[in-house]
Amino acid sequence: MFYFALIAILASLFLARSFGRRRRFPLPPGPRGLPLLGNALQIPRFRPWETYKKWEKLSHGPLVYAKALGQHILVANNFDDALELLEKRSAIHSDRPFMLMFKLMGWDAITAFMKSGNTWRQHHKVLQHIRRGRVERFHPLLAVKTGDFLHKISTTPKHFDKHANYFSASIMMVIAYGYDLQSPDDPILKMVCEAVESVVRGFLPGGFVVDTFPFLRHLPRWFPGVKFHDYAAGIKKMTYEAKTKMLDLVEEEIRSGIDRASICHAFLKEGEAEIRVEKSSLRDAAFTVFSGGMDTTSAGLKIVLLALATHPDVQKKAQAEISSVTRNTRLPDFDDRASLPYLGAIIREALRWKPPAPLGVPHQSTQEDVYKGYLIPQGTIIMSNIWAMTRNEEIYPDPESFKPERFLNPDGTLNSDDRYLTFGFGRRVCPGQYLALDSIWLATAQTLASLTLSNPVSIETGNELTAHKTDFVEGLGVWIPRPFGFDITPNKGAEHLLNFAD
Ligand code: HEM
Repeated sequence: MFYFALIAILASLFLARSFGRRRRFPLPPGPRGLPLLGNALQIPRFRPWETYKKWEKLSHGPLVYAKALGQHILVANNFDDALELLEKRSAIHSDRPFMLMFKLMGWDAITAFMKSGNTWRQHHKVLQHIRRGRVERFHPLLAVKTGDFLHKISTTPKHFDKHANYFSASIMMVIAYGYDLQSPDDPILKMVCEAVESVVRGFLPGGFVVDTFPFLRHLPRWFPGVKFHDYAAGIKKMTYEAKTKMLDLVEEEIRSGIDRASICHAFLKEGEAEIRVEKSSLRDAAFTVFSGGMDTTSAGLKIVLLALATHPDVQKKAQAEISSVTRNTRLPDFDDRASLPYLGAIIREALRWKPPAPLGVPHQSTQEDVYKGYLIPQGTIIMSNIWAMTRNEEIYPDPESFKPERFLNPDGTLNSDDRYLTFGFGRRVCPGQYLALDSIWLATAQTLASLTLSNPVSIETGNELTAHKTDFVEGLGVWIPRPFGFDITPNKGAEHLLNFAD
């Protein structure tokens, strides 16, 4: 009896507390929406980050609240809010929202889109292999792949876009599976890329509607216009086959006594792994390394080289810095990094100028919270508007201009603004950031040491690209320069650095 009474008292206290909170604290302000639909029709499919930034006026501040079909959405346009909510309060704001289309495609098994929990923790054990302090053992691999990239862009610079994609894909394949691609036509690469590309291609048109109106899921397959079931099932099968095939290859190698320095080899070698994870977690986390690392790293490299090709003065200054260190006797490597602050500032500035993941990946709150006097209901989707944060004029005056000096102290050393906003926040922050940054740094340093890039031109339209006229396309949460190429000239006195043994 005593226990029943105690439970009843605790339950009423809990209810009083949560209803009390609801009464006492309002939802954050935001644009007025329509009955039932809320703001669903006001959120654009393209470049929504710009709309969220504009809504600051309606919400009287950088914290913007919207509601779409009953779903609470909170957008942090400002770094401090993102830091407080997603980092300091990460215990309750680090889940991912359920996305029906991802579930149907089997992509809810990809780490970045996965709900938090035991499987997610297992994925992160696998991803320890690319954390800071461990990623350095892949530096020799990055050197080989950068050499191949240099060879390719110096031979066919107009195909730069393809070369950048191949550069990052070939790094991720080795790191995940120890699989060394020999050509862009490698059938394994084609198979895996097809799975990834169909998600990017299909997600928005098909997934958008069914994710906005989940009841559509219940429409039968034969219903006119209902195609997403088959589309999603096709992708699910393709993805499953690709990731299983890659793991089978590694197991086959291990059985034949072949050892390689890949994540999958490390976990599958009998009795050798320091930490054990379930095979399905290894399979899915390894596939995440490939699918999550490929487009993002190449997007970053494309942005950095686009910035350089459209800013010849910056390029010249970086080349002078590099040759003052290497004397044109060799290509720069990671040991030179600390001596090349201007190059470091270029990379920080390029990823600020055009952040490859402008809205990050949405977080979801697992508990109700109160922030700045506003209620954040449980289940709220929280977006970090990285694009808006990089446009904060108080920190980055004249934000659309590309100015590496923003990240330098007056004495030319790198300043303390060393946080790459584009990699997100808190428990869900990008675990691949060190690998991405190392890959981009080496490819940029060695390109600048040997080549000068000019006349960037869109492959699709033939239009010249300039500092203020660039052309981007949206992928799956990634904002990528549309395919472009450029002219290259070997640097005077550094031609010998381009002597490749075929
Ligand atoms: C320039 C390159 C990259 C950018 C801009 C980028 C950006 C991001 C962002 C914004 C997030 C979400 C953070 C958040 O939720 O707050 C993320 C998550 C993630 N990224 Fe990256 N990323 C890059 C490269 C990579 C690479 C190379 C890998 C793997 C090899 C990788 C693997 C992941 C994974 C596994 C997650 C999910 C973490 C989780 O949800 O627990 N990323 N990334």
